[in-house]
Amino acid sequence: MPGIYIHIPFCKSKCGYCGFYSLPSLKLKERFLEALKKEIIERGVSLSAGDCGSSPAMRPALKDNIHTLYFGGGTPSLLSIDEIGDILHLIKDTYTVAENAEITLEANPDTLSPEYLEGLRRLGVNRLSIGIQSFFDDDLQYLGRRHDAHHARQCLDWAKQAGFSNISIDLIYGLPTSNAEQWNKNLDVFFAYDLPHLSAYALTLEPNSILTKQIEFGKARPISDDDALRDYGILCQRTKENGFLHYEISNFCRPGMHSKHNASYWFGTPYIGFGPSAHSYDGTSRQWNVSSVEKYIDTRRETVRLRDLEVPCPEVPCPASEKEQLSPEQCYDEYVMLRLRTHWGIDLKWLKREMGERFSSYCEQHAQPLIAQGHLSQTREFLYLTDEQMLFADGVAEELFWE
Ligand SMILES: C[S@@+](CC[C@H](N)C(=O)[O-])C[C@H]1O[C@@H](n2cnc3c(N)ncnc32)[C@H](O)[C@@H]1O
Ligand code: SF4
Repeated sequence: MPGIYIHIPFCKSKCGYCGFYSLPSLKLKERFLEALKKEIIERGVSLSAGDCGSSPAMRPALKDNIHTLYFGGGTPSLLSIDEIGDILHLIKDTYTVAENAEITLEANPDTLSPEYLEGLRRLGVNRLSIGIQSFFDDDLQYLGRRHDAHHARQCLDWAKQAGFSNISIDLIYGLPTSNAEQWNKNLDVFFAYDLPHLSAYALTLEPNSILTKQIEFGKARPISDDDALRDYGILCQRTKENGFLHYEISNFCRPGMHSKHNASYWFGTPYIGFGPSAHSYDGTSRQWNVSSVEKYIDTRRETVRLRDLEVPCPEVPCPASEKEQLSPEQCYDEYVMLRLRTHWGIDLKWLKREMGERFSSYCEQHAQPLIAQGHLSQTREFLYLTDEQMLFADGVAEELFWE
């Protein structure tokens, strides 16, 4: 079922490790919100009319119900309740949103209060993804987070008191400030809160991030693959013992409580992305908005000006976004890459039916040496990675790629 992603590109400050697109200032917030509302309306109009570059495959997505909305960032919880409410109302007025849609908001602990969480509930936000990262102060300081361990716990209590039950937290492992005992304690706290979902990421050094530079100049402790592997092993074992499903490399849930929005990325379901750097997918092509708040704001102003001059729609330039039509071979590669990251794996029967024998035979043939070497597993018509193999999904996928 189609989904909508809304990128809120602002943070209070930049965390040392982060490579996501966001600005560490709210200076452009008002103008961004104006541009965002214009994009929501304009793309709704163009999807109904089938003009302005929307492909035929994308159009039925509007007729179908939108089943997931996801506010990601950046820090969406920097917006006020009224600002989030305005965006939600506009989306519901412009698109057909299912009554029981999953509505997720990514939130940073330092922006949360009991009143704010109650406000989100009243708006109909029914899933929270909270960036806890660690329940230990030394880890949080190393990562350059704005909250401390006490506040990490406090905001989970507040979220529950406000009536949220569908709560996910992000944790980061493989930290040089941690060890096996501390990582186990982090997981103990997570289990003690009885939450239905966990996203746990190995710390990665993003090009040009503050942390990467600090490590290069000897100003921060380096990270080690061995620590990450050790913590990953603990993570897989403890989540399994506690009844969680390891449904994607970094995602664990109680049965039935996976992120419906993120699962649609892995299942190749169409989605529309609003905001700078947001991606859209219509089944055969990808579109992505420019990763610059300034250019995003300017382009929306230009598009509207041209509309006022009654320039016919197909001639309206869309320089703030780029589009790529995917060839069958690229669609195959995407399917392999996305599905290998999940516990659902590659469905060879589906591949044969939907993409043809050319692709299913190619995949099966190239899978054989990987199975023989123990890098890939097969059960009947499914090729998949076990817990231990999942961490190397990208390398295995490359061996199965067409291009
Ligand atoms: C879109 S980001 C940010 C969400 C939210 N702004 C926050 O910071 O809590 C989602 C998650 O990706 C993870 N992440 C971001 N950069 C990472 C990195 N370099 N290594 C490991 N995990 C990372 C963090 O756990 C983060 O919470
Ligand atoms: S981790 Fe979250 S809060 Fe930190 S800079 Fe990245 S998006 Fe912003």
